[in-house]
Amino acid sequence: MSDPAEPSSVYDQIGPDGIARLVAAFYRQVPTDDLLGPLYPPQDLAGAEERLRDFLLFRCGGASRYLETRGHPRLRMRHAPFVIGIEQRNRWVELIDRALDEVALPPEADRVLRRFLQNTATFLINSLDDTN
Ligand code: HEM
Repeated sequence: MSDPAEPSSVYDQIGPDGIARLVAAFYRQVPTDDLLGPLYPPQDLAGAEERLRDFLLFRCGGASRYLETRGHPRLRMRHAPFVIGIEQRNRWVELIDRALDEVALPPEADRVLRRFLQNTATFLINSLDDTN
């Protein structure tokens, strides 16, 4: 049975184009972001954009290229090299929220994706040290 709150139900509503537009709108903000910008590889931002796009495509019920090229997501492990405290999590959510506002997906897809992305960002917090 498909759960309407699961991102796997949004693919039919927004397709690969909606996901590509969302991820592009997110990454347009990354290079100039004082907190997140320095974390991302400046010489491979296009690659980073592709990895997030492929992951979301797969997670939303689209093509499984992410699994074929990167393997199992293991997101917490893959984010372990980066210090993700409350501040970094909140900034990431701020940027993705702005991207969602910009691309204006159908309301149901917007709601489900926004919640999934916020929850996943919270799940990726790996530092509770507020001095970072
Ligand atoms: C909480 C704040 C977050 C920070 C600071 C953060 C930071 C990063 C950084 C610096 C990278 C490396 C860029 C690259 O691929 O070269 C990365 C990769 C990635 N992030 Fe995040 N991220 C965050 C949240 C998220 C969320 C919420 C998701 C999923 C919904 C996500 C999914 C990914 C994926 C799929 C990759 C590529 C992993 C791989 O295949 O190597 N991230 N992230």
